[in-house]
Amino acid sequence: MNSQDRPEIPLALTYDDVLLMPRRSGIASRKDVDTSTWLTRKLRLASPILAANMDTVCESRLARAMARCGGLGIIHRFMTIEDEAAEVSRVKRPEVGATPRLHTIQPQRSIADATKLLGRHNIHSLLVVGDDERLLGILTSRDLLFSENSGVKVADLMTGGGNLVTAPVGTTLDEAKRILHERRLEKLPLVDAEGRLRGLITSRDVLRVAENPNAARDSQGRLLVGAAIGAVGDYMERAEALVAAEADVLVVDIAHGHSEHALRATRRVKERFPGVELIAGNVATPEGALDLIEAGADAVKVGVGPGAACSTRIVTGVGVPQLTAVLDCVRVAAERGVPVCADGGIRFAGDITKALAAGASTVMIGSLFAATEESPGQTVVRRGARYKVFRGMASAGAAEARARREESQDVLDELAANVVAEGVEAVVPYRGSVTELMHQLAGGLRSGMSYLNAPSIEALRRNARFVRITVAGLRESSPHDLELAE
Ligand code: XMP
Repeated sequence: MNSQDRPEIPLALTYDDVLLMPRRSGIASRKDVDTSTWLTRKLRLASPILAANMDTVCESRLARAMARCGGLGIIHRFMTIEDEAAEVSRVKRPEVGATPRLHTIQPQRSIADATKLLGRHNIHSLLVVGDDERLLGILTSRDLLFSENSGVKVADLMTGGGNLVTAPVGTTLDEAKRILHERRLEKLPLVDAEGRLRGLITSRDVLRVAENPNAARDSQGRLLVGAAIGAVGDYMERAEALVAAEADVLVVDIAHGHSEHALRATRRVKERFPGVELIAGNVATPEGALDLIEAGADAVKVGVGPGAACSTRIVTGVGVPQLTAVLDCVRVAAERGVPVCADGGIRFAGDITKALAAGASTVMIGSLFAATEESPGQTVVRRGARYKVFRGMASAGAAEARARREESQDVLDELAANVVAEGVEAVVPYRGSVTELMHQLAGGLRSGMSYLNAPSIEALRRNARFVRITVAGLRESSPHDLELAE
C-alpha cells in the first residue's frame, strides 16, 4: 500500500475525551427537571438507568430496587430457564393486588376461631371462602368488637352477599383506588369469573405505591423487569418462559450483535412475540443499529468493549470508543423512532449526562451496581474492607461457571484447553444500598441537565454542545493537587 492509498482513519471519542458546555439556564433547582425517557418504542421510564444483565449484577433483588427508583433491572440469563423465569416472577410478584398470603376462613367456623386467627397473624380482617375457593364475604375485627357469644358463626357476622364489594382480577391500581375511595373501604378482594378469590388490594397498598411515585410499574401496579435471552441455543424456549412469567421486556444480548445469528434471533423472537418489547445488541456502528432495527428491535443496545470488566478491545483489537459509537448509532435509530441504550463504560454520574446528551435514551451499568448490597455477587473482605465480586460475562470464570451449571465435563475440558477470555474477574469496593447510589447518579444527571437549561432528556440532547478536551483538561476536571480528607 503506498501512502496515497492510506485509508483515512476517523477519530473516535469516549466520555473522558469530552465535556458539555454550560448554557444560560432558567432552571432554578434540580427538582425542576424531568428525567423520564423511552426505554423502547413503547415503554417509558422515570429514570434512564438500567442494571446490566450480568451474573454479579442483576437478579430479582436488584431489579426490584431499580424499578422502585424508576429505572429497570435486566435479569441475566446465566442460569436455567426455570430459574430465570422464577427471578422474573419474583419481581412481578404484586406489591399490591395479591398479597403473598391471603388470610382466609370458612363460613361455618366460629368467631372464637376467627379471633384466634386474627391475633395469631396480627391482622385485622379475614376473607371468608367456601370449599370451592369462592369468596363469600369479609370479616373484620370491627365486626367482632361487641360479639359476646363465641359460638356465633363467621357467616353470621361477615359482610357478604350484596354488601360485599369485589373487583375482577387485573383491576388496575387506579381503578382500585377509586373504588376504595368511593365505597370508603380498606380492602378490595379480587375475584375471577367464577367468583374465586384471587387477590386483594388494600388501602395500605395504594399508599405504599404513592410513596414511590416514580417507580417503574405496569398497569396493574407491579414493578417492571427485563430479562436476557441471548441469541443461540435455548433462546426461543427461554423467551417463551420469560414471556409466560410476564417479563416486560426481553433482551437479545450477545457480544457481537451485528452477527447473522443475533439478527436472526431478533427477527424470530419479534415474529413469535410481536407484542413483547425487544431490546437487541450489542452494536457499535450505524450499520449494526440499522440491521437490528430492521430485524425488529424496539431499542438498540450500543457498546462493544467499553465495560469495566471487558477486555474485548485488548484481546481482539475490535471496538469503538463509546461516545462515538452512541452518536453514530443514534443518528440512524432516532430517524426511525428507536431508542438507544448506551451500555458500558459509565464510571461517574457525569458520564450518564454525556451519554444522554449524545442521544442515548438510557444507559446500562454493570460495575457500579455490582458494588451494591442488592447485587448477587459474593461479598469478600480484604484488609478489613468490604468488596463484592464482579466479573465480565466473557471472563474465564463466567465461562467455567456456565459449563459447571450444564454439568458438562467435555465443555470444562475444552474450556481449560481453549478459553480465550474477553473479560476479567475482579472485586469492587462495597457501596451500600443501590437506592442511595441511584440517588447520587440521578442527582448528578439532574444537575448536569440544569447546567444545560434542559428540563427534559429531549432538551438535553438539543442543548448539548460537546467540547473535546486534552489530557491536561481531564486532569483539571478531577479533584487535584490536594491531600484528600479521609
Ligand atoms: P460497566 O462498565 O458498566 O459495563 O461495568 C457493563 C457492560 O459490560 C459488558 N460486558 C462485557 N464486555 N467482555 C466484554 O467485552 C465481558 O466479559 C463483558 N461482560 C459484560 C456488557 O455489555 C455490560 O452490560
